[in-house]
Amino acid sequence: MYAVEPLIARKCGPLMGQAHVPGDKSISHRALIFGAMAVGKTTIEGLLEADDVMATAGALRAMGVQITKQGTTFVVDGVGVGGLMQPAHKIDLGNSGTGTRLLMGLIASHDIEVSITGDASLSKRPMGRVLDPLREMGARVVDDKDKLPLILAGSANPLPITYRLPVPSAQVKSAILLAGLNTPGVTTVIEPELTRDHTERMLQSFGANIVISSGHDSARRITLNGRPELQPQFIEVPGDPSSAAFLIVAALIIPESEVIIHNVMMSPTRSGLIDTLLEMGAEIEFIGQHQAGGELVSDLKVRASELRGVDVPASRAPSMIDEYPILAVAAAFAKGTTWMRGLSELRVKESDRLEAMSEILCGAGVDAEAYADELRVTGVPSGVLGGNCACTRLDHRLAMSGLVLGLASDTPVSVDDAAPIRTSFIEFTDLMISLGADISPLSATL
Ligand code: S3P
Repeated sequence: MYAVEPLIARKCGPLMGQAHVPGDKSISHRALIFGAMAVGKTTIEGLLEADDVMATAGALRAMGVQITKQGTTFVVDGVGVGGLMQPAHKIDLGNSGTGTRLLMGLIASHDIEVSITGDASLSKRPMGRVLDPLREMGARVVDDKDKLPLILAGSANPLPITYRLPVPSAQVKSAILLAGLNTPGVTTVIEPELTRDHTERMLQSFGANIVISSGHDSARRITLNGRPELQPQFIEVPGDPSSAAFLIVAALIIPESEVIIHNVMMSPTRSGLIDTLLEMGAEIEFIGQHQAGGELVSDLKVRASELRGVDVPASRAPSMIDEYPILAVAAAFAKGTTWMRGLSELRVKESDRLEAMSEILCGAGVDAEAYADELRVTGVPSGVLGGNCACTRLDHRLAMSGLVLGLASDTPVSVDDAAPIRTSFIEFTDLMISLGADISPLSATL
């Protein structure tokens, strides 16, 4: 049973101290999935234990993969490429678009028929973007739909394809490559705009034969030879930059804050928010950068800063696609106007984030407007009014953005339901409170 959790955030003193953010969500899904496709035991340290990733683990278990937790380590006993079994019951991916789309890819080239469901938010999201190429590879949607719930029948004789991504989406790219794993021959994905590259990197480290090149039109071309034997790995999951984003922006907009956030992944395919905040005048210091789990990671020292509005180009969207809600909050406290461009994909995330963020900011007295694929926010550096209730639409990132907004606004901001935060960042509220934030259950304050 789903228990709604209204919370309220009040203006607070400086945030101070040190924090670790949980493991990266994208890498956690992939660590489980590639571990499942290897022959032998993959061990994972720092796996994100939030609902989205646990839903992927549950689905893999239902298809015959043993996943256990030993101390802090997750152990995935891989069944090898092509080794998934027919699940006995439907798989429920909850709120997770990534889990759903990546697993659809995996299922597409196995001779199994899987009934897939999700929550109300996931059931509204477009699945045609992955199902179209998977159909070309031989998969079939039994009830011929492009939205959940649906039944996906994988192919016993999958065909390799060459597919040019019509939308910049790491989920679509990954689904095709995952289907390509159990497909004889060469599967090719052409990516006109670089999106997060965790799938390619992990395929390489598990020993797949994958080649990345640049075509004459500078699009990225990824080719994968099917039916490799993947070697089990030890994976250390770095801290999630998309979760760190909420702490970073909170520390920037709450006067006199100074916070150190440890072990944040700095992949250039994910660093658009930090690049943008630096342009806005943010004081962010990078301490002790090093490689971990094949990715650059860094501790970040963030100090409260006077921000200024900037123009965020559409070309940056893929590297910060999940960070626009919290960037919009930062922009509300900046001097001048921030334009965020090329945001059509925001309309099909866990909610329509373009519409939702302009609604939340306008409710707090900020001059903000959503256009077809742009968001404009004119900041109020002298003080955002607040005083509204943010509607979180089953969207974790709207809930966390609404709470951060409340911590720096003149009057409290409540969120109608903070429960979705557990899909990605269970520790968020406790962590924020430990740094000095004033967040409490709404009922307790009535
Ligand atoms: C993800 C890719 C992005 C992102 C999502 C995680 C991934 O989605 O929004 O939170 O792990 O591949 P799209 O690929 O659809 O842009």
